[in-house]
Amino acid sequence: MSVRILVVVASDTGRTRMLADELALGAEACGASARVVPCAEVEEAQLLEADALVLGSGVHMGGMESSMRAFFERFAPLWMQGKLIGKLGAAFVTAGNGGRGGGELTLISLHAFLAEHGLLMVPMHNRLDRYVTAGSHWGPLAWTNPRGKTTGPTEDHLAAARAHGGWIAECAGRWVRGGAGEADSR
Ligand SMILES: Cc1cc2nc3c(=O)[nH]c(=O)nc-3n(C[C@H](O)[C@H](O)[C@H](O)COP(=O)(O)O)c2cc1C
Repeated sequence: MSVRILVVVASDTGRTRMLADELALGAEACGASARVVPCAEVEEAQLLEADALVLGSGVHMGGMESSMRAFFERFAPLWMQGKLIGKLGAAFVTAGNGGRGGGELTLISLHAFLAEHGLLMVPMHNRLDRYVTAGSHWGPLAWTNPRGKTTGPTEDHLAAARAHGGWIAECAGRWVRGGAGEADSR
């Protein structure tokens, strides 16, 4: 059975959703089953059955979208019960200004939720595709406001998300099955 990856996304104007969909495609290309769900629509059962949980948010006023924060608070009881401990976790963001407008801080905030619930972090390592142009060690980080004539997410950003999705799938495969994953994305 393939590993199950749940991508939870807060995307007011759809750009973070584009990254989420690409990340899911990258995971599926590496043998996982991946599902993208807006954070307001996530059901507890979806969280419980996932092997890996990936959080993606647009950056609003230097931090995550309020709908993602509401998602965190809605599922606080799972922390009381320790229900998410031992799953894998990862994160990505889109921001108007890439790393400068609060993007990195938001990535770290998303990881804080994962850590609090006892998930094991899957960072974006520096051999993954587009790490240099569209990544950070915390995860893919896209800028979306026009620079020059290009509005993001760019092909670089989407490729970084695909690559990270593949890596998450590989890590989840190793973790769940205790052996090598179905593909090596390095
Ligand atoms: C209310 C609001 C606040 C924003 N604040 C920031 C910010 O502080 N820093 C930044 O880099 N971009 C900021 N942006 C830009 C968004 O992060 C960017 O457009 C992002 O790609 C939107 O993602 P989405 O299309 O998934 O909603 C803001 C956008 C909105 C609507």
